[in-house]
Amino acid sequence: MTMLQEPRPASAAAEPSADEVADRVLAAALGAFDTLTVYLGDRLGWYRIMAGAGPLSPADLADRSGTNERYAREWLEQQAASEWLVVVEPDAPGGPRRFRLTDPAAEVLTDSSSLAYLAPLTRFVAAAAAQLPALAEAYRSGGGVSWAQFGSDARTGQADMNRPWYERKLAGALRGVPDLHELLDRSGTRIADIGCGEGWSTIALARAYPEATVRGYDPDAPSTAAATEHAGAGGLTDRVAFATADAATALPEAAYDAVFAFECLHDLPRPVEVLTAARRALRPGGVVVVMEEAAEEEFATPAGEVERLLYGFSTLVCLPDAMSHRPSAATGTVIRPGTVRAYAQQAGFAAVAVLPIEGFGFWRFYRLVP
Ligand SMILES: C[S@@+](CC[C@H](N)C(=O)[O-])C[C@H]1O[C@@H](n2cnc3c(N)ncnc32)[C@H](O)[C@@H]1O
Repeated sequence: MTMLQEPRPASAAAEPSADEVADRVLAAALGAFDTLTVYLGDRLGWYRIMAGAGPLSPADLADRSGTNERYAREWLEQQAASEWLVVVEPDAPGGPRRFRLTDPAAEVLTDSSSLAYLAPLTRFVAAAAAQLPALAEAYRSGGGVSWAQFGSDARTGQADMNRPWYERKLAGALRGVPDLHELLDRSGTRIADIGCGEGWSTIALARAYPEATVRGYDPDAPSTAAATEHAGAGGLTDRVAFATADAATALPEAAYDAVFAFECLHDLPRPVEVLTAARRALRPGGVVVVMEEAAEEEFATPAGEVERLLYGFSTLVCLPDAMSHRPSAATGTVIRPGTVRAYAQQAGFAAVAVLPIEGFGFWRFYRLVP
């Protein structure tokens, strides 16, 4: 993520020639092919087999994964052609060409604990690509494509992409906000995590605050089932639980010291109703914390890569998901600070502040005070 580019200065945005536009289309198509072939390598378990295994021939890879050798050879050559893999030429004439996954590439493509782990991003893109006919129909009719319809690639792509940030960075980030940390660290603190997905943020909060009980809310049943399994595997079922429920209606009143909403406000069809319920769910002195995209204050072009990434998520997944509900605020992924402030104000919050948490992926943290 640190490699994402800032916007080009406006003076450099001269009108490109047809050749330059054609070059951009070509480069984008190469990127799309790479994304989808990386997806295949992830889904077929090929990168995981290659990680640390040294050079493998197509027959080695096919044997170890129970896949077809001819496809394995074509994929290995494509991956080497795109410099995802390194070629090891045959030792003797007529021997098989072999291919090696470097350690840094293995970290990005297979290490689910690394902040550089980005194989899940290709799953998210592939989930969107699989729904292109439904997306085109939604664009015509004004309908939507639901989170459930995007399926397990979107759900696990989202969860696995964010997981290392919660596991490795959330506790430290919250410790850096002393009064919030002090509130969360009290004995018997009760925390809600709305839009919890597969529960990695819920689990990270429980680990960071051993005296707290944490409850995740999400209406997506496969998400809460996975979250419950993850909490069980982590030995946290005494303090962590999940409800398959809409946060707008399921949050009990005056029950929590803190309500967190991690990267979900922009997905909610009724964000103001959910924030109103979150405000009512607070005990005296409680606070709502929203982690959302670090979108720019205003729309501007040329945009930087974070903003372009957000528009990619928005056009292909988040906006169609939001519009699959009626009524819907239809926010989209590019949720600007002014939108967060407006939703909070409509939900009855007295103040909104950006928390001093820097360098946390491409997200920004807001504190909403009743
Ligand atoms: C982009 S995902 C974020 C998941 C998780 N917080 C994370 O950071 O990985 C948005 C989540 O919001 C959930 N969601 C949608 N509507 C909701 C609602 N009314 N109440 C609670 N969660 C909701 C979706 O099911 C989805 O799991």
